[in-house]
Amino acid sequence: MPSGIENVLVTGGAGFIGSYIVDLLIEEGYNVIIFDNLEEQVHGSRQTPPEYLNSSATFQKRDLRVQEDLNEMLDDVDAIFHQAAAVGVGQSMYQITKYVHSNTLGTANLLDMLVNKEHNVKKLVVASSMSIYGEGRYTCEDCGLVSPELRSNEQMKRNEWELRCPKCNKIATPAPTDEKKPLKPTSIYAMSKRHQEEMCLLIGKTYGIPTIALRYFNVYGPRQALSNPYTGVAAIFSSRILNGNQPIIYEDGNMKRDFVHVKDIAKANLLALKSMNAAYRAYNIGTGTYITIKDLAKLILEIYNSDISPVISKKFRIGDVRHCYADISLARKYLEFSPEIELKEGLKDLLPWVKGLEKEKVIDKFETAEAELKKKGLTI
Ligand SMILES: NC(=O)c1ccc[n+]([C@@H]2O[C@H](COP(=O)([O-])OP(=O)(O)OC[C@H]3O[C@@H](n4cnc5c(N)ncnc54)[C@H](O)[C@@H]3O)[C@@H](O)[C@H]2O)c1
Ligand SMILES: [Zn+2]
Repeated sequence: MPSGIENVLVTGGAGFIGSYIVDLLIEEGYNVIIFDNLEEQVHGSRQTPPEYLNSSATFQKRDLRVQEDLNEMLDDVDAIFHQAAAVGVGQSMYQITKYVHSNTLGTANLLDMLVNKEHNVKKLVVASSMSIYGEGRYTCEDCGLVSPELRSNEQMKRNEWELRCPKCNKIATPAPTDEKKPLKPTSIYAMSKRHQEEMCLLIGKTYGIPTIALRYFNVYGPRQALSNPYTGVAAIFSSRILNGNQPIIYEDGNMKRDFVHVKDIAKANLLALKSMNAAYRAYNIGTGTYITIKDLAKLILEIYNSDISPVISKKFRIGDVRHCYADISLARKYLEFSPEIELKEGLKDLLPWVKGLEKEKVIDKFETAEAELKKKGLTI
């Protein structure tokens, strides 16, 4: 335990990732306070803390958007993991105020407390996201490292899925995305994650509060809200399969992503808490490897022993990136982070968890969500 750090606040600690951070903190002997508003889209209408919530943590149902909820939030707190956010890329494009309010303003409220109240906070770790990059890195055989813009709708309508070099127009090859890649968020969600990251790093640096941003790649694992159709694809596919429906894959299914197990994410957070020379920077947290969405669907179907076959829809979502997977050299160097759970092994954790859930938690809302996106012109 780093000296002087005993009491830790986890915002969004009742959520998927936050709850694993809480478990690890408790395991290592910290006192944990959870601050979470039990967002209905994630936790359902019952508004009770989830069963998986660690009973050794202190739970406070509070909302980062509500000023009165924040007053005593930093009393006796030595470190903060800021995980609370509204999470949903597509949805953020038609619930703009909600996303800016929860993520950007919610974080502003937290930072106002840090700047204007007396406190003992010695470390702030904020959850950022790979979505802030927009498209990943690419190389061109003639031009070297390039950062192409999103594909145009016209290109996508021709089913030409791959990116072209912005300089010479040749097909570009995906490469690992490092932290120097210029940020080009392509959704309101991604913009609000960028705000969260940059606001925390700026205020941390200005006031000498060691702050670290972790840019999570695609996180999967038990406890991911299956009833929230706007989050992780592994959860969405699971929910489809369990309801006897085919997983729907956009484009041709060859999009490359970096899937990292939630326990590795929690571990990275603890490393950030303990690190001495890593502050005031953002780090990619992924595995440094990739799988295509088509192969991911295949893998999950295999694990579920299902004979359903996925649909390759050739549809696309506006703002979607083609390939993005992490270069994790910086996290390896400064946080001594190395992911431990291989995808094939990690995905096996999903099955017993999904099977153990009550029926209402496995409602497949994919089609409703898809219809909503279509109505708004966000899928083609
Ligand atoms: N899941 C991923 O693949 C992924 C990838 C990149 C980044 N992230 C980031 O990781 C963090 C955790 O995501 P998650 O997947 O665990 O999502 P989640 O929805 O399971 O957890 C978020 C938690 O925050 C709470 N919350 C939301 N708004 C709040 C508010 N205004 N006040 C208090 N609590 C609030 C919710 O009730 C929920 O429990 C988020 O910041 C998210 O942007 C997630
Ligand atoms: Zn080129």
